[in-house]
Amino acid sequence: MTQRKTALVTGAGRGIGRAVALALAGIGYEIALTARTESELADAAAAIRSKGGIAEVFPCDLTEQGAIKQLANAVQEKFSPLDLLVNNAGSAVFKPVWELSAEDWLHSLTINLTAAFLLTRAFLPQMMTRRQGRIINISSVTGLKAIDGQAAYCAAKHGLNGFTKSLALELRPYNIAVHAVCPGGVDTQMSRDAMPHRDKTGWMTPEDVAQTVLYLVSLSPRTAIDFVTMRRFDSEPLA
Ligand SMILES: NC(=O)c1ccc[n+]([C@@H]2O[C@H](COP(=O)([O-])OP(=O)(O)OC[C@H]3O[C@@H](n4cnc5c(N)ncnc54)[C@H](OP(=O)(O)O)[C@@H]3O)[C@@H](O)[C@H]2O)c1
Repeated sequence: MTQRKTALVTGAGRGIGRAVALALAGIGYEIALTARTESELADAAAAIRSKGGIAEVFPCDLTEQGAIKQLANAVQEKFSPLDLLVNNAGSAVFKPVWELSAEDWLHSLTINLTAAFLLTRAFLPQMMTRRQGRIINISSVTGLKAIDGQAAYCAAKHGLNGFTKSLALELRPYNIAVHAVCPGGVDTQMSRDAMPHRDKTGWMTPEDVAQTVLYLVSLSPRTAIDFVTMRRFDSEPLA
């Protein structure tokens, strides 16, 4: 009998999260999908089920601490034990610092960083007890370098990378793997909304990022990969 594998993917309604959810379902993971927009979640779940996969939707606004607690409880009830948490939900506020409001700043830190911390903390006890589990944070190259006009997003993604590094260190004795995937430009609704005038020809696709997630979940227990950076083939390598 093959062993049940379970994953929670945040921001699974569209873009990278949806592609990750579908790809994981394709290799046998049962998927809990979360985001705010119920119609998009339902559509992603239907796409998984149409191929014989198992998926359930858990609508949630991840900027609300109370809602995250309820989400974690609901997911634990149906998907326990959780093997994989993919912290993918995020959003971009691209403005120069002098135009950023305190609300813009807090929102960026809350959805891109604090939500990942709160969800991770919620699932750690069961992963630590089992001494088994994997956490993948979908970060960004913006978490590794400065990009002008993106300070709030840049600060949040640098924070997410710092969180990833500390978490990997703390969870080493518990056999729990932690990775950050740091893509450059991916053609999604987020990048289209945040950078409407940029030509997206040649940009990576959500499926390209999903492919990297499949690679990470296929790693042998002997191998640790902390960060994967991904960039458009025709872009400059990271310094
Ligand atoms: N696109 C890029 O160029 C790029 C590059 C590097 C990294 N990334 C990262 O990749 C991740 C996915 O982005 P994407 O490009 O796929 O964007 P996207 O297509 O806009 O998808 C974002 C997902 O996050 C969810 N989300 C946003 N705010 C939320 C909230 N408050 N509560 C719950 N869910 C929320 C959205 O659903 P709802 O709106 O329905 O809630 C949606 O499902 C993000 O972390 C982003 O920073 C993207």
